[in-house]
Amino acid sequence: MSVCYLNGDWLELSEARVSPMDRGFLFGDGAYEVLPAYSGKLFRLDEHLRRLEQTLSSMGLPNPMSRDEWRQTLRGIVERNPWPDQSIYLQVTRGVAEVRTHAYPADVTPTVFLMSEALVTPSDEMRAAGVAAVSSADFRWLRCDLKTVSLLANCMLKQLAAEKGCMETVLFRDGFLTEGAASSIFVVHDGVLHVPPKSHLMLPGITYDVVLELARDRGMPCQVREVLEEEVRSADELWMTSSTKEVLPITRLDDRAVGKGKPGPMAEQMIEWYQDYKNQVMRRGG
Ligand code: PDD
Repeated sequence: MSVCYLNGDWLELSEARVSPMDRGFLFGDGAYEVLPAYSGKLFRLDEHLRRLEQTLSSMGLPNPMSRDEWRQTLRGIVERNPWPDQSIYLQVTRGVAEVRTHAYPADVTPTVFLMSEALVTPSDEMRAAGVAAVSSADFRWLRCDLKTVSLLANCMLKQLAAEKGCMETVLFRDGFLTEGAASSIFVVHDGVLHVPPKSHLMLPGITYDVVLELARDRGMPCQVREVLEEEVRSADELWMTSSTKEVLPITRLDDRAVGKGKPGPMAEQMIEWYQDYKNQVMRRGG
């Protein structure tokens, strides 16, 4: 039993219906967010809402709710679903138009949809062993900073990993690291954590910000700068980060060991800090 929200109504997920004329369905014309909730409390709620606002305004899509209305609706979905830890999916599309035309139609009402799933973060065993990844050229568009539902390229890229039994696809554009198909990628070289700067070529990850804040606050050397493909391939450590994977070491890339082929000391440290931070924030009330 999973309760979802659709355009003002709370209903069983299997009962929810959207028109095939919805521009999210026809054009991928919509924005989304994925927010974790731990023990019923939403993690970095305002940061997710700010990123949603940025995506919507870049798409010229009027935000259908105020911050307070979003907070209420998001808390509503967490309360109505049974799992203590949840992964909340939120989607806003431009809405249902009478005819299919590419340019934005006037006078459409955005479609607002939220659903929840049990949040399954990586197991202790997975974190302790690390995961395998493949790499690929990043063939996505030039607005990867927008969190839109047009995700075919990301799906195709993630599928490359799935077909090889791997967890993620690490992406390179013009010889530089961008990110993963569904995560941010951090690289450790000689005791320094490196990550590419935010730009139109990558999603501004909420977990990316948390990891950088923790590194800076607690004195882990880190540099935000362009990272060469060869630096990734010769890294001592490689991590993927996202709202649902948190901090997860990548220990094999394209069938070769990363560093010593097991999670490095900096990954272990960051995983511990991340868990501490999460617990602290949740005790304070989200
Ligand atoms: N994806 N980069 C891409 C392309 C992503 O899809 C994601 C997250 C991230 C990490 O962002 P954050 O730390 O804010 O979760 C980076 C989500 C989880 C998804 O699409 O399911």
